[in-house]
Amino acid sequence: MTRKKMMAGNWKMNKTIGEAVALAQDISNQYDDRWPDACDVVVCPPFVDLKPAKTVFEFDRVEISVGAQNVHWEESGAYTGEISVPMLKEIGCAYCIIGHSERRGYFGETNEDVNKKAKALIAGQIKPIICVGESLAVRDEGTTLEFVCAQVRAAFAGIDAGLAKECVVAYEPIWAIGTGRTATPEQAQEVCQAIRATLAEMYGTDIADAMRVLYGGSMNPGNVKLLIAQPDIDGGLIGGAALKAESFVQLIEACL
Ligand code: PGA
Repeated sequence: MTRKKMMAGNWKMNKTIGEAVALAQDISNQYDDRWPDACDVVVCPPFVDLKPAKTVFEFDRVEISVGAQNVHWEESGAYTGEISVPMLKEIGCAYCIIGHSERRGYFGETNEDVNKKAKALIAGQIKPIICVGESLAVRDEGTTLEFVCAQVRAAFAGIDAGLAKECVVAYEPIWAIGTGRTATPEQAQEVCQAIRATLAEMYGTDIADAMRVLYGGSMNPGNVKLLIAQPDIDGGLIGGAALKAESFVQLIEACL
């Protein structure tokens, strides 16, 4: 089964509107017609930058999608500070990251929240990028596979096969995020393979084989090739290296 690669840039809480437009334009200027066949390219800027970034890509007619970094599961209501699926939909968001370890760790996002967000996104036809990953303590305990696969099962609870197919899973070991300490290709492959096996238990091998599993955590132009050469790693969720067009484009071009 050949799955199209994906490179998704997670800009986190970086870039004002002006800076976001400049970065989107810089990526767009380097766009190559070979990209869309080899790789789905997604940028996930802060909410306020979504529309400006989308406008750059639309104006330039490049196949680069935008995604959000979070969403609320209710459609509207008294949820001060939150953003809903219909709001993202109207901007033209194709993807939304959910369950990032920074949201789980700093903002108390639970597996149940991730599941509710995934269901709301699927209902609104926005593809969730569901993040899972273990802390260093869990890795040192030797329970990484159990921990991560439990996160996967919880995120997909009650989601049927036809809809699960639209989701992307991102394996991001917390100890590798923003630390410069990447998982080795073998470590990343071991967990991504276990994630796919869990999806296969839930949905059968055909669906699991069609779903993308990304690796995230200090992916950069120097380590990308070996990571994406692993059979169960279908691309990357990129933090630091997505904040510069030069390095982000190199990651995309590693997929060509
Ligand atoms: P990093 O972040 O590439 O800076 O490690 C990845 C992420 O948190 O999505």
